[in-house]
Amino acid sequence: MQDKIDQYTAEIKAFTSAKADELEAFRIKYLGTKGLIKELFEQFKTVGTEEKRVFGKVLNEFKQFAEARYNELKDSIDSTVTTEETKLDLTLPGEGVTAGSRHPLSLVRNEIIDIFKRLGFVVAEGPDIEDDWHNFSALNFPEEHPARDMQDTFFIKKNSGTDDIALRTHTSSVQVRMMENGKPPFRAIMPGRVYRNEAISARAHCFFHQVEGLYIDENVSFADLKQTLYHFVQELYGEGTKVRFRPSYFPFTEPSAEMDVSCTICKGAGCNMCKYSGWVEILGCGMVDPNVLENCGIDSKKYTGFAFGMGIERITNLKYVIRDLRLFSENDVRFLEQFKTEII
Ligand code: PHE
Repeated sequence: MQDKIDQYTAEIKAFTSAKADELEAFRIKYLGTKGLIKELFEQFKTVGTEEKRVFGKVLNEFKQFAEARYNELKDSIDSTVTTEETKLDLTLPGEGVTAGSRHPLSLVRNEIIDIFKRLGFVVAEGPDIEDDWHNFSALNFPEEHPARDMQDTFFIKKNSGTDDIALRTHTSSVQVRMMENGKPPFRAIMPGRVYRNEAISARAHCFFHQVEGLYIDENVSFADLKQTLYHFVQELYGEGTKVRFRPSYFPFTEPSAEMDVSCTICKGAGCNMCKYSGWVEILGCGMVDPNVLENCGIDSKKYTGFAFGMGIERITNLKYVIRDLRLFSENDVRFLEQFKTEII
C-alpha cells in the first residue's frame, strides 16, 4: 500500500497539464468515485488494526495532497481563461458591415456634380421622353438634320416632324427647359440618361449617360468656358492634366469645340486607350447660339453663355480603365463588387 501511495504521489507531482480536458481525466483517475484513491480506501478496509493505525493518517494526507494539487491546477486554468478574456480590447474598431456598392457611373456622376456645385452650379433634370421642340427644334437643328434621322433617334410617336415624340438623344433638351422656365443668370448641370439607336458593342450602346452644363449671364465669353472646363479637369483628373480645344460643330452652339484631355492612363506618352495619340476627347462645348437663346425667350443682345455636354461612360472608362461599355448595364456582380466601399 505504501508503494502505491509513493507511486501515485510521484505521478501527481509530475502532472502539470494546463488543459481542462486533461485535468478532468486526472480528476477521474485519482479522485473519481471509481478512482485510484477510492480503491486505496477500499483496500484500507481490509487491513489489520495495526496497519489501519499507520495508514489511516498517511492515506488521508495523501488524499488531501491529491485534492490540493487538483485545485491548484484548476485555479491556474481558470485564471488563464480570465486572462484570455481580458485580452478583448473593446476600443478596437468593429469589423465593418459591407453593404451594396454604388454603380461606377453613379460614383463618377456624383464626382462631376460635386465639382460643379463648388463652382456655384445647381443640379437640374428633365424627362427622358422628349418632344421634337426640346430635343431638336429649339436647339436650332434644321429640319433635315441627320441627327433627327430614324437611324439615330428612338421615336415613340412619329408625326409630321415638329410634333414627334422621342427618347431624348442628348441632355441638351434640359437646357431648353431650364431657359424657358426661368430667368437668367443660369448656372446648372443636368445629368441624365440618353438614347440612340445604335447596335450594341464594346464601344457603342443604345443608351448612355451625359452631364450637360449651362452658364448664361451678361458678358460671358469663351475665356470663361475654357477656364471653367480647365478647372473641372484639374479637379477630376488631377493637377497638371492638359486640355486642348478643337473646333467643332453643333447646331446649338457657335463657335463650337470639342475638348480633349491628356490621356489619364499614359499621361500623354501614348497607349491603346488614347489610340497612341496622347489625347482623349471628353466633351463637346461652345457658346450658346443666339438663336437658341431667342427660342427660349432670352434676350441674346443682353445675355451670352456657354454650354457643354460630356458622356459619363467615357469619363468612367478613363478613370477605371474599362474597355467595354456593355459591362455598365449587364449587372455582373463580379464587376460591380469592385466598386464596393466599406461602411462602419
Ligand atoms: N449635346 C451634345 C452631344 O450630345 C454635346 C454638347 C452639349 C455640345 C452642349 C455642345 C454644348 O454630343
